[in-house]
Amino acid sequence: MYTFINSEMKKEYLGLEYIIFDNIIELEKKDQELVNSAIEASKRAYAPYSNFHVGAAVRLSNNMIIQGNNQENAAYPSGLCAERVTLFYAHSAYPNETIETIAIYANNIEETYKEIVTPCGACRQVMAEFQTAQNKPLRVILLSPELRGIILPSVNMLLPFQFEL
Ligand code: THU
Repeated sequence: MYTFINSEMKKEYLGLEYIIFDNIIELEKKDQELVNSAIEASKRAYAPYSNFHVGAAVRLSNNMIIQGNNQENAAYPSGLCAERVTLFYAHSAYPNETIETIAIYANNIEETYKEIVTPCGACRQVMAEFQTAQNKPLRVILLSPELRGIILPSVNMLLPFQFEL
């Protein structure tokens, strides 16, 4: 792809590392527990319109795990993704704790979905702001229904050049 650049300009490279795993049994016990909480939460999703059940679980610095799932509504835009339900709940109940890790799992009712779920833009923005506010990386674990997945060491990976005020 052609992009104009002259000698006064500079090119920068943004390199980001992440970890890939084939099964959650490879994860440390703490993360396995978190992932299992996200899976469990997905089973309680209220998703009668999409039939796409998403669960999220966050581990806080006090070691608590908070779970959430997507909550839909007949007025579609009124619904909310699992990630934001979970993050907003965790932050409203425990505003002084750091959010260490979020695990996200999704499956559809027909069980045809095979992908590693990746959060929507709005959820990335919310994760990014909480990460900035706590001044500590928020790790992200993304899973496929068959329990392969990736670990992102921080939200920067999902949202470089985040909007901030
Ligand atoms: N959804 C989530 O909860 N998280 C995601 O990362 C992707 C999408 C929800 C929103 C809606 O309830 C359903 O999945 C289909 O988009």
